[in-house]
Amino acid sequence: MTSRYSLKLLYPRDEIAGEVRRMAERISVDYAGKDLLVIGVLKGAAIFLSDLVRAITIPVEFDFIGLASYGDRVTSCGEVKITAYPTSAMEGRHLLVVEDIVDTGLCVDSLLKFLKERNPASLKLCALLDKPVRRQVPVNIDYSAFTIPDKFVVGYGLDYAQRYRNLPGIHTLEEAADD
Ligand code: IMP
Repeated sequence: MTSRYSLKLLYPRDEIAGEVRRMAERISVDYAGKDLLVIGVLKGAAIFLSDLVRAITIPVEFDFIGLASYGDRVTSCGEVKITAYPTSAMEGRHLLVVEDIVDTGLCVDSLLKFLKERNPASLKLCALLDKPVRRQVPVNIDYSAFTIPDKFVVGYGLDYAQRYRNLPGIHTLEEAADD
């Protein structure tokens, strides 16, 4: 018996686009007149960030931070390693971290601690997806679009074994028995 994966559409591209626009409107109001630096977490948030910053109507800079990959498993990390550092100055600036998904919360929790040590003027979190049932550490998400059940999702930047990031919608990835 072998196994394969099947994809089921959870959020189509139009629904995602609407939510991203609404988030960008809120961010544009909340950060008006402030020196906003958006920091995207590679690679999962790259597509979300590129749509988000184009919908933000105030001046904004963006940069990226790379976190260690967790291999090809359908699971999250336990410990975070930074693999690529942002080159932008962070001290005294308003930092907004952009994540694809908050699952256990362990990654973003250590990332926020790391960024706090850079003495920003403020530090907030924007996550496209929130999977609260799997949380292991409390995480305050300032802007989030969708709260999802305990399913593994791919598309719109999210991957399984580096695949499916290019799908325009978000899909659940489910194992389908096959013999
Ligand atoms: P956390 O530390 O458990 O919150 O995991 C965060 C990271 O794990 C995310 O930024 C993703 O890279 C990955 N991850 C967690 N859940 C999923 C999922 O359902 N699909 C794809 N990647 C996921």
